[in-house]
Amino acid sequence: MNKKITVIAGDGIGLEVTGITQNILEIIGERFGHQFEFTPALIGHAAIEATGEPCPQKTIDTCRATDAVLLGAVGMPMYDNNPNLKVRPEQGLLKIRKELGLYSNIRPIKLFDELLYTSSIKPEILQGSDIIFFRELTGGIYFGTPRERNEDGTEAIDTLRYSKMEVERIARQAFESAMTRRKKLCSVDKANVLESSRLWRETVQALSSEYPEVEVTHMFIDNAAMQLIRDPKQFDVIVTGNMFGDILTDEASQIAGSMGMLPSASVGNEIGLYEPIHGSAPDIAGKGIANPIASVLSGALLLDISFGLKEESDAIIGAVAQFLKEGYRTLDIATDETPEDKRMNTAQTGEKLAELLASVA
Ligand code: NAD
Ligand code: IPM
Ligand code: MN
Repeated sequence: MNKKITVIAGDGIGLEVTGITQNILEIIGERFGHQFEFTPALIGHAAIEATGEPCPQKTIDTCRATDAVLLGAVGMPMYDNNPNLKVRPEQGLLKIRKELGLYSNIRPIKLFDELLYTSSIKPEILQGSDIIFFRELTGGIYFGTPRERNEDGTEAIDTLRYSKMEVERIARQAFESAMTRRKKLCSVDKANVLESSRLWRETVQALSSEYPEVEVTHMFIDNAAMQLIRDPKQFDVIVTGNMFGDILTDEASQIAGSMGMLPSASVGNEIGLYEPIHGSAPDIAGKGIANPIASVLSGALLLDISFGLKEESDAIIGAVAQFLKEGYRTLDIATDETPEDKRMNTAQTGEKLAELLASVA
């Protein structure tokens, strides 16, 4: 198979982890006889520095000329510490999602058995957890207008808007996913307060008649945040809006052990974009210690979802499982019991995964 992949490393640890994933994809290409051609593109602070824009048109054009996009992360402390800067890295991410019509952000929360005892959640609560989130990605409060400050700067407004069409298309994906899994769908909203959530709930409920086998429940966001940690096993598929999904999935990363473990796939009308759920992690950026597994697993999702290469995708997941089984730990998932020679930095993790690919592929 001949395929083109746009690689948008971005900022901070995005740069560090994306290179590892590209290398893993190159190894997969060689091993399974595929030609993957990689084209770099700019986003975030890196793009602002080079072009003045957080997501230049050239980046969008490059994506459209390829078959899938691998993205790292955006963000820098200079913007986080200065809310008044008008041009910001995060705008780049929002723009690429909107331009490419990536309305469905799929975030699987998979706990590798080896990490059962390293989580801050009790193993008996965690064991058997397997959740997939469908986070709406191109609507809601992230995009609604007006969004502005009044003249004297003492009042600000953001707008939470959803249309029936926007809810229906993400909910449909979630129902379809539930049909291939345990046939349980939980829709998370704040319908006791928000009008947009009442539309959300009504739309999901109406669609459920097309999926009579799927057991649908509705949960308020505040309760869902609590239930996720109290009893994660109760969930199968969760569908929710843009901001609720953002927050709940960072929380859910603790089910998988770390932010450094969670990949995501964003799909919609055109090509798919694959990125870890984590950000640029300024607190560890530049130290070479970030966990690249979230990015590597995003690469696995890319092969599976965009290219239909299930065996190749499974080979990557298998290498990650083997890495953990052999006791290797990146620093975010290491414990006091992890011996010194099993503690891996970013580059060492990449090398070990590459080596293990040879044994599982
Ligand atoms: P973050 O996800 O960057 O980091 C949160 C915490 O998790 C930090 O302690 C970090 O060290 C840790 N962490 C994250 N990924 C890790 C990994 N792979 N390995 C080990 N540890 C990891 O969130 P934040 O600190 O709130 O945000 C930092 C910047 O990133 C901000 O500018 C924010 O806007 C941006 N951001 C970008 C994205 C994205 O590009 N998709 C996502 C979230 C945040
Ligand atoms: C994510 C991030 C982004 C989001 C930010 C950086 C715009 O937190 O991908 O989860 O909120 O969607
Ligand atoms: Mn987030």
